[in-house]
Amino acid sequence: MPDLTEFIRGMPKAELHLHIEGTLEPELRFALAERNGIPLPAASVGEIRASYAFNDLTSFLAAYYEGMEVLQTAADFRDLAWAYLQRAQDEGVRYAEIFFDPQAHTSRGVAFGTVIGGLRQAMQEAWRRFGLRTQLIMCLLRDQPASYGMATLLEALPYRDWIVGIGLDSDEKGNPPEKFARVFQRARAEGFGVTMHCDTDQENSVEHIRQCLEVIGVDRIDHGVNVLESPELTAELRRRGLGLTICPISNRWCAGDTKAGQVKQLLDLGIRVTVNSDDPAYFGGYVTDNLIEVQRAARLQEEELLRLERNAIEIAWLPAGIRDRYLAEIDEYAAAAGPGGS
Ligand code: HPA
Ligand code: ZN
Repeated sequence: MPDLTEFIRGMPKAELHLHIEGTLEPELRFALAERNGIPLPAASVGEIRASYAFNDLTSFLAAYYEGMEVLQTAADFRDLAWAYLQRAQDEGVRYAEIFFDPQAHTSRGVAFGTVIGGLRQAMQEAWRRFGLRTQLIMCLLRDQPASYGMATLLEALPYRDWIVGIGLDSDEKGNPPEKFARVFQRARAEGFGVTMHCDTDQENSVEHIRQCLEVIGVDRIDHGVNVLESPELTAELRRRGLGLTICPISNRWCAGDTKAGQVKQLLDLGIRVTVNSDDPAYFGGYVTDNLIEVQRAARLQEEELLRLERNAIEIAWLPAGIRDRYLAEIDEYAAAAGPGGS
């Protein structure tokens, strides 16, 4: 088996499952705490890193929400996004659809406009400087009431040109997709793309995937590896050409296994599966690390790695002309780096 690490590093990449708040590295968390005069529960960066020892979604989410308390001003959100975007540029990310969790901030008294305004500044800078294209997906918190979700959707409407889609995240236990049926019906009517987390190995993962397909009418599913437990739902996913945004290192922390074997199975079945980083500052791996892990564990070949990136572009919420340009970029890389290339 040849070492494909350099092939992966050089590949043009797209990332579709990345929570911007999950890119808050301990170093920046410290700097922002100092800037805003906020006390931290740890004395050093090392202590914070050592405290990140999750064994499920709930224990991760506790650290994730605690971490974001240092985010207060538009400059904080800009700095957060800028740190990620520089990293993404270094890793060859050409396009990213970025999740943000406004309710995790508005519920602390930080205004919606502060959050999205700061993020947007960094995104425009990345486009100007690097030609790195990004769009925002607003996630609603599923462990909050549906009425709060609807209020947040309405609050977002003045910013609709800055938001490409609506997602659903946070604690899945007891919070099925159908709880948000009306909110997502409205989101769809407003013209947004629609996606939802069906986290790995949750209490009712398969039933939640069924609701995503049959009740909500999602355009894709975040995580969703448990679809393999249902041949009917797997067939339906393929029939509709829907994609899954899988996050291997996140899976290792929250479900005890990267599920690399399932990524390979889904590829073999012709499902549009993609590989993403989820919350890289907490799980300790950006998109390249996630691709390397899956490649090694499932012994993926170059063609399969390219397929993962083509899948991401094919399911991205992009106009056809722009989509084709990114697909051509992947083809060029394949031609130059693949068999017969240099
Ligand atoms: N699942 C649920 N909620 C989240 C996640 C996730 O992967 N990341 C950040 N919030
Ligand atoms: Zn996620």
